[in-house]
Amino acid sequence: MRVFVSGGTGLIGNVLVPRLLDRGDAVAVLSRRPEHAKQLWGARVEVVGGDPMLAGPWSDAAAGCDAVVNLAGEGIFKRRWNADFKQLIRDSRVKSTDNVVAALAKHPRRADGTAKTLVNASAIGYYGPRGDEELTEDAAPGDDFMAKACVEWEQAARAVEQYGVRVALIRTGIVLAKAGGALEKMLTPFKMFVGGPVASGRQYMSWIHIDDEVGVILLALDNANVGGPMNATAPNPVTNREFSKALGRVLHRPSFMKAPGFGLRVMLGEVANVVTTGQRVVPRAALQAGYQFKFTEVESALRDVLQK
Ligand SMILES: NC(=O)c1ccc[n+]([C@@H]2O[C@H](COP(=O)([O-])OP(=O)(O)OC[C@H]3O[C@@H](n4cnc5c(N)ncnc54)[C@H](OP(=O)(O)O)[C@@H]3O)[C@@H](O)[C@H]2O)c1
Repeated sequence: MRVFVSGGTGLIGNVLVPRLLDRGDAVAVLSRRPEHAKQLWGARVEVVGGDPMLAGPWSDAAAGCDAVVNLAGEGIFKRRWNADFKQLIRDSRVKSTDNVVAALAKHPRRADGTAKTLVNASAIGYYGPRGDEELTEDAAPGDDFMAKACVEWEQAARAVEQYGVRVALIRTGIVLAKAGGALEKMLTPFKMFVGGPVASGRQYMSWIHIDDEVGVILLALDNANVGGPMNATAPNPVTNREFSKALGRVLHRPSFMKAPGFGLRVMLGEVANVVTTGQRVVPRAALQAGYQFKFTEVESALRDVLQK
């Protein structure tokens, strides 16, 4: 199949794109940095230059594909949050999705007449801060900034269902990958022997190994029965304290130095809420669809990505 990936140069796309190529799919990647994308994959990928937030000629390339995986979105930890940056966090997701939807709406069927597929990124931030309540895809959304942005993001994607396109919404947890993402930021204090739980340590961290993240996306791409929200989190979420202990064991470093929530809020501002609160999310839809997780325990996932 021919797959169009927007936001494909990031943490998830870097693993997803080679997996698609290895199994024989043709891949087109939309990037605001086409030269960078060409350096990553060379001629194996059709690189389409363009900004997903702005409609443009790239939409013809998207319309010509059998499926779209839409991963575009400004990194939420890139800057201290202010009104402008929050708008960019929201717009880079919702406007990009609007534009992908407009492209698919032009040609919603494949050459063989079957429905096209949109696999759209979303996040467990959809649920907002929820203590230790177990959350499946049916749980109601939260009402903080990230939750409201995720609701709009998902609504934007679902707008293409009216044209018969199958839409899967991948509510991703904390992706554990070899380089980049949240784990890279967590490593520094541990390497400096000052690692430990954040705030109370009781908040849940719903993590997922990058291989399973990509596995869930491929399941959503391939399985015609999958549609609607799908949590991409491992079946065993852990508290922040349990996560810190596992990370300390894997790195052979102490894990008892607490990072107080108050200090983090002063240092980081509003985005600190993302790490001082959490969600206990379970991947019911993926398990029901038959997905078999490669990594179900956080310590073995950390050992694998950190090669320990
Ligand atoms: N990684 C996680 O733990 C995690 C957790 C929950 C949800 N998610 C969601 O999953 C998606 C992919 O995650 P990721 O970790 O692979 O993201 P990432 O590494 O930050 O990459 C996202 C890509 O989006 C594009 N992008 C960045 N800022 C943009 C902007 N202002 N306007 C338009 N495009 C922009 C970039 O592509 P170009 O520069 O090539 O254009 C970038 O490579 C994101 O939407 C993210 O919110 C990720």
